[in-house]
Amino acid sequence: MNISLLRRLCDANGQFVALAQLGEDIDRVHAELDELDDFGFALERHPYYGVAYRGPAERLCPDQIEHELQTQRIGRRIAVWNRVASTNDLAASAAGSSSNDGLVILAEEQWAGRGRLGRQWSAPARSSVLMSVLLDTPSTLDSTSWLTALGAVAVAEVVARFSGREPRIKWPNDVRVDGRKVAGILVERGLGAVIGIGLNVNIPQESFPDELIRSASSLQILCGAPLDRSELARALIRELDHWYDLGILHGPGSLSARWRALSEHLGRTVNVKMPTGSLAGVLEELDLEQGLLVTATDGRALRINVSDVLALTAVEPAADV
Ligand code: BTN
Repeated sequence: MNISLLRRLCDANGQFVALAQLGEDIDRVHAELDELDDFGFALERHPYYGVAYRGPAERLCPDQIEHELQTQRIGRRIAVWNRVASTNDLAASAAGSSSNDGLVILAEEQWAGRGRLGRQWSAPARSSVLMSVLLDTPSTLDSTSWLTALGAVAVAEVVARFSGREPRIKWPNDVRVDGRKVAGILVERGLGAVIGIGLNVNIPQESFPDELIRSASSLQILCGAPLDRSELARALIRELDHWYDLGILHGPGSLSARWRALSEHLGRTVNVKMPTGSLAGVLEELDLEQGLLVTATDGRALRINVSDVLALTAVEPAADV
């Protein structure tokens, strides 16, 4: 598929582009437009004016996602599936071969999608970005908390860019806007580490199940229009690769500043649950290497390792909208 041609049409912002501007061989241009049409891209053709881009394909387009991706590790291989049990399972089953380091699995639909704490993760077919990334991590980046932070920061950056809103990370793995969850991250470890990401994209509010209708949101709701999921998947792969590459080059701390800035809890009164018991206090500091600094209600300042935190909740939850 000619994705450069597709990009030229997109860049025209809805204007018609003359066929002669798309290539010297008009028959070939027609054939390439037919291929884009057949895949499902919405193109309007006019006998005099040429062709105009009207919208993305409903299904994920692997060529569009991979086009000039230019990542270091993540996305060296990308597989797009129609229907799978869980993308995390598929990614995990590819572990053990160095050529699969950075493999990205995407699916249009999952029939046994998993969330944290044994919960289900379900989304209507072709509505979301359901993605898993397989990584052969160096020992410095091998912790579940770091990999979860990596997924959350990358998602939050993409949500901010596409929606113009200010997402926040709710410990440890939710990305929320105005107190409503738009994405979740599930890290699972086996032979390799798998970062699973579920990002709600083209889901209208009424399509969420009753129990989520007040707590969940999607990019379509935030933007007021459906989005191009292939562009989102592509942006997410690039963002993940960017932060992972920084981690490889400069260590786990390179993610800390952004992670802290995106935190929903920093500066608030929180309850921290640890294997040794619970603690309530103000969350003064948050760092992936130095851990949390909490000033307890009795005035004591305590440092807590990120990996020792079983749960962290705001004592006064952010106002839900
Ligand atoms: C959560 O918020 O509890 C985490 C949700 C993670 C869902 C994603 S969807 C892609 C990947 N495959 C899965 O089965 N789960 C993750």
